[in-house]
Amino acid sequence: MTAPWRAAVRTLEERFWVAGVAANFARALGLDPSGQQALGIVAAELTSNAVKYAGGGTASLGALEDPASARRGVAFEIEDEGPGIAALEQAWRDGVSEGRELTPDTPRAERRGLGLGLGAVLRLADEVVVSTGRGCGTKIRVVFWVKEGARPSPEAKAGDAAHRPPCSLPGGEPL
Ligand SMILES: Nc1ncnc2c1ncn2[C@@H]1O[C@H](COP(=O)(O)OP(=O)(O)O)[C@@H](O)[C@H]1O
Ligand SMILES: [Mg+2]
Repeated sequence: MTAPWRAAVRTLEERFWVAGVAANFARALGLDPSGQQALGIVAAELTSNAVKYAGGGTASLGALEDPASARRGVAFEIEDEGPGIAALEQAWRDGVSEGRELTPDTPRAERRGLGLGLGAVLRLADEVVVSTGRGCGTKIRVVFWVKEGARPSPEAKAGDAAHRPPCSLPGGEPL
């Protein structure tokens, strides 16, 4: 993959920036709006994991062209030098965070995530490749292909303000 964009990520806040860069990149390559947003969510989740569990990493984006099928797509990669994902099979499962199954009774102090990030990545991306090993860091590459013939998502329907009940807060004006 040629990577025209690459950046170090160190803080949790940077996931929003990475998501925006990824979504713009996807738009420029012709992904439809829901593909752009899906890539943004995936990029944000993977960036947050690299920061939370490995102290940071390097994110990159590149354009892909599959000569066999003439498909075009976007690859997002994130690489870190952290401890690796222990029990990878378990980590993909929804509700598993830091090696344990979260329940409604899991104490506040023991919740650092929802345990839904990797599951969402798997559901949203067209392809996911993970290389990870204890003490070897983690590299995750996801691919989103341009869906040929896909139509742009319909415009979000604006709510009709005139039909909403007036705001009942003291002093409030109807929106
Ligand atoms: N880059 C990484 N390095 C080490 N462990 C990771 C990494 N990414 C994910 N993990 C492990 O996989 C688990 C599941 O990740 P995820 O589904 O995103 O849930 P959450 O981040 O909410 O715990 C994490 O709790 C963590 O134990
Ligand atoms: Mg996560």
